[in-house]
Amino acid sequence: MTLEISLTRDPAHIRHGSNIGQPLTRTDGVLKVTGKARYAADNHPPGMLHAVIASSCIARGRVTSLDVAAAKRHPGVIDVMTPAHKPELAEDPDAKGNPFAFRMELLQSDEVRYANQAIAVVIAETLEAATEGAALLSPRYQVEIARVGLDAGEAYAPPVVGIGNPAEVRHGDIDAGMAAASKLTDATYETPAQYHNAMEPHAIVAVWDGDRLFIDTPSQGMGFAQMRVAGLFGISPANIHINSPFLGGGFGSKGLISGPQVLGIMAAKLTGRPVKLVLRRGQMYGPVGHRPPTRQRIRIGTDDAGALTAINHEARVTTSSFDDFYEPAADASHTLYASPAIRTAHEAVRVDTGTPLFMRAPGEATGSIVLESAIDEAAFACGIDPLEFRLKNYAEVEPTTGKPFSSKALRQCYARAAERFGWAGRPLQPKQMRDENGFLVGWGIGTATFPAIMFQGNARAVIRADGKGVMETGAHDMGQGAWTALAQISADSLGLEFDQLTFRSGSSDLPDAGIAGGSGHTATVGAAIHNAGDAAIAKLAELATTDERSPLFGAGNAGVVARAGRLHRRDDDARSESYAEILARAGVAEVEGSGTGAADAAAQSQYAMHAHGAVFAEVKVDPELGQIRATRMVGAFAAGRIINPLMVQSQLYGGMIWGLSFALHEEAVMDKRSGRILNANLAEYHVPVNADVPPMEVITVDEHDPHVNPLGIKGVGEIGITGSAGAIANAVFHATGIRVRNFPIKIEEVAMGLMS
Ligand code: MOS
Repeated sequence: MTLEISLTRDPAHIRHGSNIGQPLTRTDGVLKVTGKARYAADNHPPGMLHAVIASSCIARGRVTSLDVAAAKRHPGVIDVMTPAHKPELAEDPDAKGNPFAFRMELLQSDEVRYANQAIAVVIAETLEAATEGAALLSPRYQVEIARVGLDAGEAYAPPVVGIGNPAEVRHGDIDAGMAAASKLTDATYETPAQYHNAMEPHAIVAVWDGDRLFIDTPSQGMGFAQMRVAGLFGISPANIHINSPFLGGGFGSKGLISGPQVLGIMAAKLTGRPVKLVLRRGQMYGPVGHRPPTRQRIRIGTDDAGALTAINHEARVTTSSFDDFYEPAADASHTLYASPAIRTAHEAVRVDTGTPLFMRAPGEATGSIVLESAIDEAAFACGIDPLEFRLKNYAEVEPTTGKPFSSKALRQCYARAAERFGWAGRPLQPKQMRDENGFLVGWGIGTATFPAIMFQGNARAVIRADGKGVMETGAHDMGQGAWTALAQISADSLGLEFDQLTFRSGSSDLPDAGIAGGSGHTATVGAAIHNAGDAAIAKLAELATTDERSPLFGAGNAGVVARAGRLHRRDDDARSESYAEILARAGVAEVEGSGTGAADAAAQSQYAMHAHGAVFAEVKVDPELGQIRATRMVGAFAAGRIINPLMVQSQLYGGMIWGLSFALHEEAVMDKRSGRILNANLAEYHVPVNADVPPMEVITVDEHDPHVNPLGIKGVGEIGITGSAGAIANAVFHATGIRVRNFPIKIEEVAMGLMS
């Protein structure tokens, strides 16, 4: 007899599981609202010292003196870490082992590369003493003129953009496409520098025990952090234990361990005591990444019927003077619209800032607000409704590669969101609608898109003697609800009710779950969990089907189905046995299975994989003051299988708020003379508060994708920002007839436009 066990590989089967698809509330919600969730900075090991960074107030030059003696004389101050006095590192923090080992400032020299860079660390018995000590350092500088802004220097072609895309991409004959156009939209837009501004600042509590290191710190990627810290301190990654159970947001800034976090580890090493280091809000504007400013020129050619003939999207971005990260802003034009010719190109300028980093839909956010605005301009130039124009130029295959989409329900997104919003009857001309108070009313549309990315992650499943299950994976929950969704997948993967499962996560001692980024965490770790669960169930099934005493004996080719803690014969559902019974009879304490989730390279080479969406927005503008209020937003998104509709809705709301924020609020203002950031605080760096956020509605459109991964998950973390920013910007145009090409759209530009 050959034994063949067929399990839950069929996604159609998984869908019948009792947990996936349920709108469960957050498993960690009660802990959070009752203050029991312990964030990194909530830890106070015995004997702990406080470290405070002294930050540079110049953007370029050298530190010529620090009054270390004054700081040390201050009561409670234990030590002051400076370039002259610090633990030795095993690796140069300026070494570039791989493109994502970004250079960090670990007091390796007296050079200042950007404002808010660490120039010393004061370590004291109390936070107050450390803060006061830092204030006594009275640094003196040799100042050089800072390079600020997109015109600060010579532009050059970056080697790659984003996570390794070519800086220039050509599809078709761009010159022929432009020549064939009867109308040309040629517009230059600018987007500002933005900072992640997660609610929780970067924080670390570090404890050394010989050459073992224990750290509590928020992380979107514990495995990467272990590797980096291991290299810097010359210890084995296995000796580094990272605890990261809760994050107050990350948005990309916690994807890689940052310089300030490493300084906390150095301070603990220097003093031989546990050390806590927490960044102040203002100190987060520099050493932990940001979204760089962009200037994007986009030329769109159309024929008489409104069909695209060419899109030429060029972006200039800034990066730091000492490292390379290039926002892939123009790449947004690769995916969305069918055009016989598409060219995207990037150039870069070095400025005196910290190195930019991935932030909330890196590339797609900056690129799509520009593309969506310019598409709106092109539609208007053709006298065509902007939704109709988008449908006319709908991409049936991925434009730049010609690959079919693994799934694409964007048409349904347009239709459902438009219907719900009430788009029909929108006047084509701007400045046609007013509300009862005389405010100008405008309606705008934006298309959302984000690639369905997967990284690599692992999980381990156990079924215990009592028939209950354990799933272990070092996954990261930044507040997005990942743990809840992953626990739902875990329960289904093991054929258990939700409450029969123990889900363990948030520690580097568990199987490495890769990085929570690129909106790929649920897909990646979900696949790992799915495979781990399958492996454990397969072992259980083997114990049962090969044992004559089991009602499942000889289930053979028909196989078994795992459900509610029991295995059932697929060919005779009434014959079943509980996990506990199977293990007890076999005399086995537990069975376990491991699984890995990763992108399927073969499927990826065959298909273009993206989530899509359509966002409609209404704004009202005061005709005299130019004040803009978003008043309504409706978004419909198709992102493959939805694991938890409640979490997904919440993620999409969040993304839509980011979009609103991009269009109307966020901007880091650099002082052109000093290179300092003038609004490095949450009072003046505007993010939307409740009063700014209009009623929102999210529609999720069913999408079954057999190609992206076994569970059909595409990810929803970042897509919400991409259509929403453009929708708001286009609504402002529709309300006022003024096309503001400098984001965020400011009251003065609108007011000036309305006066002229
Ligand atoms: Mo995201 S910018 O990949 O955390």
